[in-house]
Amino acid sequence: MQKWFEIPPGDPYYCVVGSPVAHSKSPEIHLAFGRQCKIALRYERVEIPPGSFATALAEFAAAGGSGMSVTVPLKEEAYRAAAEHALRAFVTGAANMLTIADDGTTIADNADGTGLVRDLLSNRRLLLAGRRILLLGAGGAARGVIPSLLEQQPGELTIVNRTLSKAEGLVERFRQLGLVRAFDYERLPRGPYDLIINATSLSLSGEIPPLDPRVISGASFCYDMMYTADGRTRFLDWCGDHGAAACSDGLGMLVEQAASAFSIWHGVQPDTAPVIASLRE
Ligand code: ATR
Repeated sequence: MQKWFEIPPGDPYYCVVGSPVAHSKSPEIHLAFGRQCKIALRYERVEIPPGSFATALAEFAAAGGSGMSVTVPLKEEAYRAAAEHALRAFVTGAANMLTIADDGTTIADNADGTGLVRDLLSNRRLLLAGRRILLLGAGGAARGVIPSLLEQQPGELTIVNRTLSKAEGLVERFRQLGLVRAFDYERLPRGPYDLIINATSLSLSGEIPPLDPRVISGASFCYDMMYTADGRTRFLDWCGDHGAAACSDGLGMLVEQAASAFSIWHGVQPDTAPVIASLRE
């Protein structure tokens, strides 16, 4: 049988799991937080093929692992494999972190939405209450952040997706949490919108969603949930070309969700600013 985890005795052991996972910056981030907060920990990358998560998690818990960060495409599988679910995971049906309690119970949580909102509010100094938000995409990445966005009580949250039925499914799922509506790209009202968030998988291939640029005004803030070394993505360049007031990639979201996980695992809230700055260097 496949052995993913052999954990020799030592400091508490954490890892990020995904497929692929080699690109993940989570080890650097958690180890930097550990140095900053003087908390000893181990943190590695482990590739788990889709379909194997439940077995891998059982092995991880039995081997003495303390917690896992979960990245694509395993977030839904991680949610299903866990025995218990924090509210943030329950409302999205996905987990981006798992904690192994002292008695071996596996607890799923989801800090993606918290990470996004903290990045927007604390690092970017945006106000979301009353604002018009446009969310591009209706896959797992979009679903994971909708409850946190609605919690900020925006004036409206508009989801636009190539496949309208998927966006409508999200409206159905989250309509009790706030004003949320769905469109395809052809019928999307032009807005303009105060905040435009790209949660499609298109940035991975350097493509731009088929968005009418008139949704952007000189007051629009544009955000790409993907991150790059220099903070630029094709989507953000395109938004800038069409007059966006300011842009941000998703590096801050990544670091903020890691900080949320770190505070749950270690009981200390790390300072994210120096870690974001050092990752940008
Ligand atoms: P993730 O977990 O990263 O969200 P996903 O669940 O596969 O990945 O979702 C990908 C998102 O990118 C979806 O909203 C998808 O639109 P569809 O629901 O219509 O598939 C969007 N996307 C991918 N390729 C696209 C394209 N060429 N044009 C527009 N949207 C696209």
